[in-house]
Amino acid sequence: MKKIILTGDRPTGKLHLGHFVGSLSRRVELQNSGEFDDIYIMIADAQALTDNADNPDKVRENIIEVALDYLSCGIDPEKSTIFIQSYVAELTELAFYYMNLVTVQRLQRNPTVKAEIQLRGFAENGEAEDNLQRKGTPVGFFTYPISQASDITAFKATTVPVGADQEPMIEQTREIVHKFNSVYGETLVEPQIMLPTNSACMRLPGTDGKAKMSKSLGNCIYLSDSAEDVKKKVMGMYTDPDHLKVTDPGKVEGNTVFTYLDAFSRPEHFEKYLPEYESLDALKDHYRRGGLGDVKVKRFLIAVLEELLQPIRERRAHYEQRIEEVYDILRKGSDRARETAAATLADVRRAMRINYFEDTELISRQAEQYRG
Ligand code: TRP
Repeated sequence: MKKIILTGDRPTGKLHLGHFVGSLSRRVELQNSGEFDDIYIMIADAQALTDNADNPDKVRENIIEVALDYLSCGIDPEKSTIFIQSYVAELTELAFYYMNLVTVQRLQRNPTVKAEIQLRGFAENGEAEDNLQRKGTPVGFFTYPISQASDITAFKATTVPVGADQEPMIEQTREIVHKFNSVYGETLVEPQIMLPTNSACMRLPGTDGKAKMSKSLGNCIYLSDSAEDVKKKVMGMYTDPDHLKVTDPGKVEGNTVFTYLDAFSRPEHFEKYLPEYESLDALKDHYRRGGLGDVKVKRFLIAVLEELLQPIRERRAHYEQRIEEVYDILRKGSDRARETAAATLADVRRAMRINYFEDTELISRQAEQYRG
């Protein structure tokens, strides 16, 4: 069986370091491993609209940002198909059929959807995150796990690399596949989730030490940030609030600068920038003992991040001068994706016995019946 990847992001903002450690770097690795027959990376604009119906311009403007971020991280359009969800209309048709295989009660139990309904202030008793009006849950939003099942199955994806918050969506997809195949015959492929491997990398905290990078909190380091921005953000990063003097002993746990070093520093970085320490453990020991100032550790982190971000920034600058070309990549990718999805949809229609015009047996049988 072919090994096929499908994954994607909602285009609601630029991508940041949290996306990089959580998913982008993994995708590039998987792409370059040569282990997969096909890789589809989807810009999920239709899904983004399920909770941004009143803000289509936000989605419209961010498509190019996400595409630039992909390309600058090393997603190669020769090896991976980058496409726009709403340009593959077959996905919505599939979702409409899958809706008959899922109950409202089952959707109501989806923990990610449940949490998001609270977070977005859709729930009647919910507490809105951004002072959103309480307005009830849009049906499209409520059913997005089903739409996500279409995204995955349309490409017969075997592997879906996503964060742990997406686990309920993959589970829902597997249930739909199971149900579809048992009702209509073996047609769809059951996907496997592929979770991030390094636990330190799974969720990068914001620069303020809060659990997560989030645009609304203003605590993100973006892949598109300038060297100057990165420096400022790292210099202002949350550390150990009790580490006031250099000589004070400091805490490493919950210290954002060290969490980032856990995620990004390599032994070579020590040789190059901090040869007096042989490893991150040695640096942590010194910090714990006291006598190591935040500024020195932050300068080191800046150097480490710059090694990562500078090539990304250069590739981004290249594509920023070629926006038409980027849209061309998206158009070609969407055309390719549509072909694949259309083939799956044809299989689905055949399995569901709604392929009337293809079915010459049906037509001649009924013709004979009426001719008598
Ligand atoms: N829900 C994903 C996110 O918010 C985006 C997405 C849409 C997706 N369809 C998908 C991810 C299919 C993986 C597979 O990031």
